Amino acid sequence: MQIQWFPGHMAKARREMTEKLKMIDVVFELVDARLPLSSRNPMIDQIVGQKPRLVLLNKADMADPFITKEWENFFANQGLMTLTVNSKTGQGLEKISSYAKELMKDKRNKMIEKGIKPRAIRALILGIPNVGKSTLINRLAKKKIAKTGDKPGITQKQQWIKVGKELELLDTPGILWPKFEDQTTGYRLAVTGAIKDDILDFSDIALFAIRYLIKVYPERLSERYHLDDLSVPPIEIFDEIGKKRGCLLRGGEVDYDKAAEIILREIRSEKLGPLTFEHPSDYQE
Ligand code: G4P
Repeated sequence: MQIQWFPGHMAKARREMTEKLKMIDVVFELVDARLPLSSRNPMIDQIVGQKPRLVLLNKADMADPFITKEWENFFANQGLMTLTVNSKTGQGLEKISSYAKELMKDKRNKMIEKGIKPRAIRALILGIPNVGKSTLINRLAKKKIAKTGDKPGITQKQQWIKVGKELELLDTPGILWPKFEDQTTGYRLAVTGAIKDDILDFSDIALFAIRYLIKVYPERLSERYHLDDLSVPPIEIFDEIGKKRGCLLRGGEVDYDKAAEIILREIRSEKLGPLTFEHPSDYQE
């Protein structure tokens, strides 16, 4: 599997981000709760620098709640504050202003000591494409804000959205590139639909998903596809699912592309329940 990314694109994204960061007090870093590190930009620490940051574990409704708790601890151990949210319904977002205030507490207290009334906290949403940036902005703005193309370089007039009395949000998010450093990251992003399906081979992605489900969610897999034996090679499971769903070519061979499409669509639409595709222990030596 080879995924191409363009250094020019990255450099431009980085420049735009630097400009945006100059205007704000805190960063809301949006990650996908189903794959919090794979959906994160590898250079995030350097990009954000010393700015206070809140990590938003978004799409929490689609993720395994037990593992989300473990991710919250993982980030806390790194000294990062997290908020677990569902930007689609707004669940969890009621705390965002108070968390931002908490992050700015020292600075604001110093201002108050000097007799200066602190102005509203200015925040920027950062994240890779598809992680839910526009959904979150719309939810916080309580109206639909035009979506910026997922391409850096589209300069737009920027405005501040008021979120309550003490928080203001930049109406255009900072778009970062995902991490394509290793194959597994690419596959995790592909399974959740975070990267375009045409970048990778569909059946490869489905086979990756099947292998993962056998290991981590065997009951969900066997229940959904009525499988009796998961000890056979994953390709045979793929084959069985294909046959069971009637994905057959003329000669009776399994149509793997079609079977893959069904499996991925069902995973993404939560037919197998909420799933998380990486665990903090995957990152421990
Ligand atoms: P982006 O700006 O970061 O690129 O992402 P965007 O908001 O466009 O969201 C990408 C997809 O993720 C959208 O689905 C959106 O509805 C969905 N989404 C965002 N946040 C959440 C969340 O917390 N929970 C769930 N379940 N979904 C979320 P879509 O299928 O592309 O669009 P639509 O059919 O929802 O309109």
